[in-house]
Amino acid sequence: MDISQKVIDRFEQRFGGKPEHIALAPGRVNLLGEHVDYNDGFVLPAAINLATWIAFSPSGSETNTLIAFDLNEEAVFDLKGIPSKTDATGKAMADWVKYPAGMAWALSEKGLSVQGMNAVFASDVPRGASLSSSASVEMTFGIAWQALGGWTIKPMDMALIGQRAENQYVGMNCGIMDQFASACGEKDRLLLLDCRSLEYRTLPLPSDVSIIIADTSVRRTLLGSAYNNRRKSCEEAVHLLSAKFDGLKSLRDISVEEFEKYADMLPQETRLRARHVVNEIERTNQAIPLLEKGDVDSFGRLMNECHASLRDLYEVSGPELDLMARLAQVLPGCYGARQTGGGFAGCTVNLVEKEHSNDFCRILSDQYKKQTGLEPAVYICEAARGAFLLK
Ligand code: GLA
Repeated sequence: MDISQKVIDRFEQRFGGKPEHIALAPGRVNLLGEHVDYNDGFVLPAAINLATWIAFSPSGSETNTLIAFDLNEEAVFDLKGIPSKTDATGKAMADWVKYPAGMAWALSEKGLSVQGMNAVFASDVPRGASLSSSASVEMTFGIAWQALGGWTIKPMDMALIGQRAENQYVGMNCGIMDQFASACGEKDRLLLLDCRSLEYRTLPLPSDVSIIIADTSVRRTLLGSAYNNRRKSCEEAVHLLSAKFDGLKSLRDISVEEFEKYADMLPQETRLRARHVVNEIERTNQAIPLLEKGDVDSFGRLMNECHASLRDLYEVSGPELDLMARLAQVLPGCYGARQTGGGFAGCTVNLVEKEHSNDFCRILSDQYKKQTGLEPAVYICEAARGAFLLK
């Protein structure tokens, strides 16, 4: 059964009557520019054809009754319980509830009216797999509250509100990439975002090439603290290097050469982290003209370099991700393979010549399974439209 039918059926069962609205928001995959969004760099994600769906109606009161279909859990909270993160009985909210509640909180902070709703949501974006399942939940609820509130904001503003919810309400200090891709995705297009100016444009997907996602089936734990630590290292590098570079705002502001000249000033670990960021920003700069002229060979090489840098310098890879990337990189038709998103576990992204795609999926899957005993999911993905109200 497809997800929209699942959420509609469950809505009717629980609340009686049909939901007034349906909305959805996709997950994302990032091709290049990893761990640079919070360093004012450039990112190259695409929204994907996996999404969180919601069926909802106004509750007619301040009370929200939400059903997380995939967890088989229900939460009830009033709008007044949102600042204290407590549900209708005064108990602390479950973790999953903080994503919708955080959206309601961040929207209200912006002065946008938030109405109580009855809702069922479900997703086929795998959780904890670095495909932005959280951002897709945030953007889905953002669209839902927009429909009920009768106001309209730009997708980029919705993304910023989602980031605020995640930073300040959920406590994950993420950058803007995931919410941006989920809100602003376009069918069959890659997105190129300047994370400093927030200007973006789209680029065509290279023709004759498939984007293939390979899910190691290993899920990350403790990502939040490791992620927040990486971010602190970048801030520390900027702070120390600003002794040499007047008015240095972020690692985007120094070139690779400038960085190497003063890299010794930084403590060992901070130096490795910052070296990844400075080089990765340079790689995305190089990638843009390559993509524009359809030089997939060179673009793929940058993806492979990115993986090595995430593994050796930023240290956010993991044994299964390394294996998945290593196996893929030597398969026929593979231009580039690397871990995507926050890291530690989850998925790799692969650029593969279309005519080799099916063989690539099969062989990669078999080899990974043989070496790890784990069952991976390897599939061709499509670039999809960003969050929207379907009805
Ligand atoms: C997570 C964050 C993003 C980004 C990536 C790494 O997905 O939510 O903001 O920093 O990690 O590129």
